[in-house]
Amino acid sequence: MIRTVSAVLATSVLAGAAGMAAAQEVNIYTSRHYDTDERLYQGFTEETGITVNRIEGNADELMARLQAEGSNSPADIFMTVDAGRIYRALDAGLLQSAHSDVLDARIPVEMRHPEDMWYAFSLRARVIYYDRNDVENPPQTYLDLANDAYEGMVCIRSSSNIYNLSLLGSIIHHHGEEAALDWATGVVENFARDPQGGDTDQLRGIVSGECEISIGNTYYFARALSSDVDGLTGSTDMIGIVFPNQETTGTHVNVSAAGITAHSPNRDAALAFLEYLSGDAAQAYFSSQNNEFPVVEGLDLSDALSEMIPEGGFTRDMTNLSILGENQAAAQRIFNEAGWE
Ligand SMILES: [Fe+2]
Repeated sequence: MIRTVSAVLATSVLAGAAGMAAAQEVNIYTSRHYDTDERLYQGFTEETGITVNRIEGNADELMARLQAEGSNSPADIFMTVDAGRIYRALDAGLLQSAHSDVLDARIPVEMRHPEDMWYAFSLRARVIYYDRNDVENPPQTYLDLANDAYEGMVCIRSSSNIYNLSLLGSIIHHHGEEAALDWATGVVENFARDPQGGDTDQLRGIVSGECEISIGNTYYFARALSSDVDGLTGSTDMIGIVFPNQETTGTHVNVSAAGITAHSPNRDAALAFLEYLSGDAAQAYFSSQNNEFPVVEGLDLSDALSEMIPEGGFTRDMTNLSILGENQAAAQRIFNEAGWE
């Protein structure tokens, strides 16, 4: 009797194990919204045989979903853009530590959480764009944007935008809150119009003549160089680019980052996916498909990115990205105080 029961148990355990091996999968909640990413996920399945299931959405909605699902969540990975957002996920207890010698060796130390709660996989720089015809001496630093010389010339998106919160977070880190408030107030005085639209709309403002100077992430401009972007393609020659703070703190960069969720049911597959993202093929892919910079040094950049960056490359701000997240609340308070909508 006893032997029969244990035989049945053994059989079902084996069947269970075989079933799991046949249906290995990893479930990704991602706020990356680039069509070209499909290829990135396919590459992982081709390499490992592990199926990738993906739920795409707004980062805040995905975080709310993770919170509501709690320990029943099917999610293994949370992936997003901007250090500020991955910080929010961490702060909400949605991530778990995931140590990996592969990731330690591949990802630069300032590009990962000190306790392995998340890793960054691609970089974007937040640079200054200007109208080559109208601006003889473009700003060379972020602080310069507050200079009286640029009164009525600057277009930039709203202060609730996470990219701007992280930029101000870096200014707080380097110069302190008082200087950050002076800066934000000075930039508001230089606005050409009330904040509106995304980074691409600020570039369109330069083309239409509404603004002379704007701030935006590198991949938006690279996209206009390499594909059809309404209102930009065909007009990119009139736009000059400054990689700011080359003589000081380096150009502010942000990241796309991912971590393993707190209740990941497929933790091994999740870690394999993160390691895959740090591999040469996936790293090169971030650049060739979405015009981001790989975090792993020495890989080829897309043609559009190569065209944009200064000869000999540029110096980036090496501040640990966790600090940008920690400064989010102060940044929003300072933006509000400065009247930056
Ligand atoms: Fe973006």
